[in-house]
Parts: sequence; C-alpha cells; structure tokens
Amino acid sequence: MNWWQRRADNEVAVAPSLLGADFTKLREEITSLEEAGADLFHLDVMDGHFVPNITFGPFIVAAIKRITSLMLDAHLMISRPDRFLKAFQQAGVGAVTIHVESSAPVAATLTAIGKLGLRRGLSLNPDTDLTTLSPHLPHLDLVLVMAVQPGFGGQSFQDTILEKIVELKDIRQRKGYSYAISVDGGVDDRTAPACRQAGAEILVSGTYLFQAPNRQWAVQCLRGSG
Ligand code: DX5
Ligand code: ZN
Repeated sequence: MNWWQRRADNEVAVAPSLLGADFTKLREEITSLEEAGADLFHLDVMDGHFVPNITFGPFIVAAIKRITSLMLDAHLMISRPDRFLKAFQQAGVGAVTIHVESSAPVAATLTAIGKLGLRRGLSLNPDTDLTTLSPHLPHLDLVLVMAVQPGFGGQSFQDTILEKIVELKDIRQRKGYSYAISVDGGVDDRTAPACRQAGAEILVSGTYLFQAPNRQWAVQCLRGSG
C-alpha cells in the first residue's frame, strides 16, 4: 500500500481540503468525511503574503490532529515555509507541501522536511512551468499540481494542467522516482475522470465534497467507484 492510501485497493486517494468545511462544526465535518471514506486531509495554510488570503496555522492544525487519525498534509501557501516546519511537525502533520514559487530555499527546505520525518511535497501554480521542479523530483514524496491559482476554494479547474500530470507520470516511470501525483483546485465529479486518466493518484477536493448532499457518494465519484 502506498504511504498516502488508507486502503490497499490501489484506487485513487481522496483528500478533502478543509478550506471547504464549515468551521463552526469542524469536528462533525472531519468525522463525516472520514466516515465517507477520505484517505487523508489537506490543510490549506495561507499567510496573506504568498496568496491574497489568510486561513489558519499550527494551532488549528493541532486541534484537527486531536479529531482525526488520518494523515494531515499541510499545503503551505506561505512565503517562508522553512520558518514553520517544526511548528507544523509538532502540530502533528504527516506531510508538508511547499510551493516552488515561495521565497524559501526549496532544496534545503525539502531536506529539512525529510529530516523531521515528514513526507516532502512540492507544488506548482497553473502558470509555472514543470521544468522548475526538475532538480527536486528525485527528492519528493508528493507533487501537488495546482489546477487553480492558489488562495481560494470554489474556483474553476484549469484543464491545461492535465498535461503536467501526464508528464510527471512519464518522468517518474522513466527515472524511477517515487513521488505521488496529486491535483488540487476545482476537482469534482466532472473533472476527476480526466485527472485519473492523466495519472493523478491523490485528488484534493474542497467545495465539491463539503457541499455534496451525499458525501460518501461524492468520495466514490472522485475515486471512480461511484
Ligand atoms: C486553493 C487550495 C485548494 C482549494 C481546493 O488555494 O490550495 O486546496 O481549497 O478547494 P476547491 O476543491 O473548492 O477548489
Ligand atoms: Zn490546497
């Protein structure tokens, strides 16, 4: 079983983005998605500098960790993720995903994430060329392909990013790398099939999952078993 999966069924993993949750009842929301079959949770951390929005930090992540035993992947949309790695590790995340566009020294930050015993994730925005990731690919556990400009949930999926997923799968196979391929932003029952077809193995979804009338069915639709 891959590190990001909850089951050994080799189907696509589903990672609800808590940005889509109703924070007035966070425990209920997390438990409901866990029972609906989520494999891990995706936590969108924003600092108002790297993206024009502010969300939450290690304090809230530690509370989320007390609610669920599923892996937490902190998607750090912040200018200096290198300054907060220990804080997120102590808060209980299992993976940290930084942006190749951030102001942090990317290679050194990825090494530091690994030294803390965390899965190393690297993300790129829709208009960032895949070649910017090349030097880092051998050292990654996760590549997060953004299908929207980061900062907000509920945006429309940019299908031009599908070719990055295909390319990442091809490079991994040719070079023998081991990163998981994840896609984030505007992922729902309509866009998920193309993501799976392209080779995505983790689908991050916020609005679609948290607004679905039947969350179990919505998770199955993303996994392709609905
Ligand atoms: C956007 C975040 C995404 C977003 C996903 O900056 O990184 O994780 O919350 O939400 P939806 O699925 O609503 O696009
Ligand atoms: Zn995200």
